Amino acid sequence: MQRPPRPAAVPPPSRPELPRHVAIIMDGNGRWARRRRLPRIAGHRAGVGTIRPVTEECNRLGVHILTLYAFSTENWSRPRTEVAALMRLFSETIDREIDELDAEGIQLRILGRREELGDRLRAKIEQAEARTAHNSGNILNVAINYGGRSEIVDAVRDLAESGADLRLLEEADLARSLYTAGLPDPDLIIRTAGELRISNFLLWQAAYAELYVTETLWPDFGGEDLQNALRAFAERERRFGAIQTPPEPPDEVAPAASHGG
Ligand code: FPP
Repeated sequence: MQRPPRPAAVPPPSRPELPRHVAIIMDGNGRWARRRRLPRIAGHRAGVGTIRPVTEECNRLGVHILTLYAFSTENWSRPRTEVAALMRLFSETIDREIDELDAEGIQLRILGRREELGDRLRAKIEQAEARTAHNSGNILNVAINYGGRSEIVDAVRDLAESGADLRLLEEADLARSLYTAGLPDPDLIIRTAGELRISNFLLWQAAYAELYVTETLWPDFGGEDLQNALRAFAERERRFGAIQTPPEPPDEVAPAASHGG
């Protein structure tokens, strides 16, 4: 399985209360278009327009690892014309944005089964990744033809192919075989357009992510929505399965049993 280049660096957040890694399920492009009586692709175009300002705002606020869910393994079942238009949009957007991404020190990485994308798009992805591979200030992962389950299957296949003894598999071995190898798991997953689902996104990595769902449709998502999400995140108490209690008093000494005569 082809993979994105290794992260050039793992940039920490600028402040401790910020998430190191934010992931976004960009939903609601279709509804945005429908409300305006426009074709769905107009919603996707508007959605592309949201990406640059949100990426810039994340970086400005001090979050330096961002992952965007652009096309899932299930999205192939959409009408052929919509899929083709989305593929064109990915290609055009890479062409249009790559200079700026590189100039801003952003490493672009594509997560997903790229083997199943067209040759031209795949070549473009590889060029864009190679060009930005040295950038260490910010990481932008874009998930295209991505599925959390297929990512885990691919990771296990790779491990099996490498000759690893799968009976001895540890969590860290599997994590090292995912597309996100070398990156911290997302601390915060934002979903736009109100659905309360994870939709096969970063299933392994989302184990302890905080979820934030907003009714805002992706094309309307802006700096204020991002700041609201980060504020909500800062107020969450993250326990990672542990409990926070005051120190326990020492064990009570059990009263000595009375031995009646
Ligand atoms: C979900 O909205 C959105 C998608 C399936 C596509 C998201 C893609 C983009 C924003 C373009 C990304 C482009 C690049 C270059 C990364 P939906 O169509 O499911 O909306 P709906 O639920 O309202 O119908």
